[in-house]
Amino acid sequence: MEAQFDMDDFTKVIVSENDISRKLDALSEQIRSDYEGKDLLLVGVLKGAVMVMADLARRMPPTVQMDWMAVSSYGSGTKSSGVVRILKDLDADLTGRHVLIVEDIIDTGITLHWLLGNLRSRGAASVEVASLLRKPDAVQVDVPVKYLGFDIPNEFVVGYGLDYAESYRTLPFVAILKPSVYED
Ligand code: IMP
Ligand code: MG
Repeated sequence: MEAQFDMDDFTKVIVSENDISRKLDALSEQIRSDYEGKDLLLVGVLKGAVMVMADLARRMPPTVQMDWMAVSSYGSGTKSSGVVRILKDLDADLTGRHVLIVEDIIDTGITLHWLLGNLRSRGAASVEVASLLRKPDAVQVDVPVKYLGFDIPNEFVVGYGLDYAESYRTLPFVAILKPSVYED
């Protein structure tokens, strides 16, 4: 079954479905080896990280656990507000746990910087970050990313979990959205 989408909405596909799959193979191999013999808790940041979380977690041993947080640093537009709020907290107690935060994208870094501080204060044995994408030219706060997929240009992108006004999350690739879609 093929998903339906109109390629005219996008300027360019910057990370293909195949690129994502091969990158997750490599990252998951590294993660499996780094956490060998340890219980790993993947913490996904809703909603953008759902696709990368699902595909990464399926490459882990079956003892891997998933938990979710929802935070908000964006409205429905395309610019970060700089304010981070918890909309949904974790179910898990992090005491003594090895935690890997799974993110879709690091844009300004504000969300992740705040999240790292928040999770580190809960007594975890370790807290690291995996992110599929990063926009190096947009970073305002440096965040230590142990597992990174791709550095991308400072453009608004959608697909593979990333949305514009809640649309386009289901695309199998990451693409630059045509400004005409969100400008009037
Ligand atoms: P931050 O600016 O690093 O705090 O990014 C916060 C969140 O904004 C990310 O986790 C994404 O969910 C979202 N975001 C950042 N850049 C983009 C983009 O280009 N497209 C869609 N969502 C984005
Ligand atoms: Mg996100």
